[in-house]
Amino acid sequence: MDRQLLVRKFDKQAKKYKKRQENGHANKFRQRIFHEAKGKVLEVAIGSGLNFPFYSRDIELTGLDFSHEMLKAAQNAAKDYPFKTTLIQEDVETVEFNENSFDTIVSSASLCAYQEPVTVLNSFQKWCKPEGKILMMEHGISTNKLLAGMQKSLDPLALKVVGCHQNRDISDIVKRSDLTLVREERYLAGYLYLIWAKS
Ligand SMILES: C[S@@+](CC[C@H](N)C(=O)[O-])C[C@H]1O[C@@H](n2cnc3c(N)ncnc32)[C@H](O)[C@@H]1O
Repeated sequence: MDRQLLVRKFDKQAKKYKKRQENGHANKFRQRIFHEAKGKVLEVAIGSGLNFPFYSRDIELTGLDFSHEMLKAAQNAAKDYPFKTTLIQEDVETVEFNENSFDTIVSSASLCAYQEPVTVLNSFQKWCKPEGKILMMEHGISTNKLLAGMQKSLDPLALKVVGCHQNRDISDIVKRSDLTLVREERYLAGYLYLIWAKS
């Protein structure tokens, strides 16, 4: 899909994401994994900042997104949190950081949108310090056959309307990348993946 078209799709969704700040159905899963973020944290595809409530007060956060509208919402949300936040408008598929720049890399609900998700994870492997953590909460193909069938048939429509795939096998993507999978938990009929990995 054309890049500018994809960015515009997410720009349009920014208000909807802002509303989810207080009562998002995924908050308990965000809480379960993202309190582990420590030190210099890179959050890719940060959206409107829905993970802010779950971070420790003493992290130093760099947030990246290619949508200006999402970043505006994140900038506004960041005012309520004590940690230092730097937001940058970049495409995670092309941005460059030095090797070993971050103690933690966070990704949520974003592997669904990338053209080359394995390549993005390979970048995480380079950017994260060897003793650091890569924490992910992603949605993907369900373990339930009926739901998986629906996800497969709805995939082309979802891509067109919201810009993200519904049927990606997140475990397989992680296994095909240079990351080392440490732990995986699946929830909501196996459709929600929590992944702990390292570089
Ligand atoms: C479904 S939203 C999730 C936002 C946030 N991570 C969350 O958990 O609420 C996907 C986000 O990924 C961003 N995004 C998608 N592809 C991207 C890319 N290649 N580079 C940077 N941001 C991207 C979108 O702009 C959007 O903010």
